[in-house]
Amino acid sequence: MLFLIFLSASTLQAQQIKQLPEPQKEGGTPLMETLSKRHSSRDYAGKTLSNQMMSNLLWAAFGINRPESGKRTAPSSHNVQDIQVYVTTAEGVYLYLPQEHALRLVSEKDVRSATGKQDFTSQAAVNLVYVSDFSRYDGGDKAAKRNTASAHCGFIGQNVYLYCASQGLNTVFRAWIDKEKIARALNLSGNQHVMYCQSVGFKE
Ligand SMILES: Cc1cc2nc3c(=O)[nH]c(=O)nc-3n(C[C@H](O)[C@H](O)[C@H](O)COP(=O)(O)O)c2cc1C
Repeated sequence: MLFLIFLSASTLQAQQIKQLPEPQKEGGTPLMETLSKRHSSRDYAGKTLSNQMMSNLLWAAFGINRPESGKRTAPSSHNVQDIQVYVTTAEGVYLYLPQEHALRLVSEKDVRSATGKQDFTSQAAVNLVYVSDFSRYDGGDKAAKRNTASAHCGFIGQNVYLYCASQGLNTVFRAWIDKEKIARALNLSGNQHVMYCQSVGFKE
């Protein structure tokens, strides 16, 4: 009986974890050319990203680039690594797990339109939501944490801009959002604070 309970619990867990392919870390557009192409865009076709593109995008955003230390593609104050990257797509909401380089299913609902006050959010293949886990900070008041977390989001957002510019994808970093609405859609806890969003997708 115990074995059956264990088996069904681990099957359920496996269903909720989607392993991403290894990110492609070689090649790509040269940095100076990529910087020349970086821009914001608000035009999106409904087309979804391949698993490989999703893998590359999330690794570029805030993946682990030094496995020996667990450090990431974006810096953080005191290496606090407070930013959690939520991924909203037509299929549902996922949390990016950098250690496993996998996605954990949060909800099977399409909440893309809830991630912003602009119409294009429902057309973008992906709307990333940057959430700061304030419990990762040792001290400081809420305002200090919010300031630091904003800087962290800026670095992650720029990583995403550069990945998109190198791949011919459109993207825009967004502050015009309803944070409470997003927190509800993502089932966030009290320590998790919505900071910014970023749309990513193919051009029209
Ligand atoms: C902190 C921040 C918040 C932003 N919020 C929004 C937003 O809510 N909606 C939007 O369409 N663009 C938003 N943008 C994108 C800017 O409008 C855009 O970066 C600016 O117009 C310059 O264009 P560029 O990125 O193509 O250089 C934001 C950018 C930053 C850095």
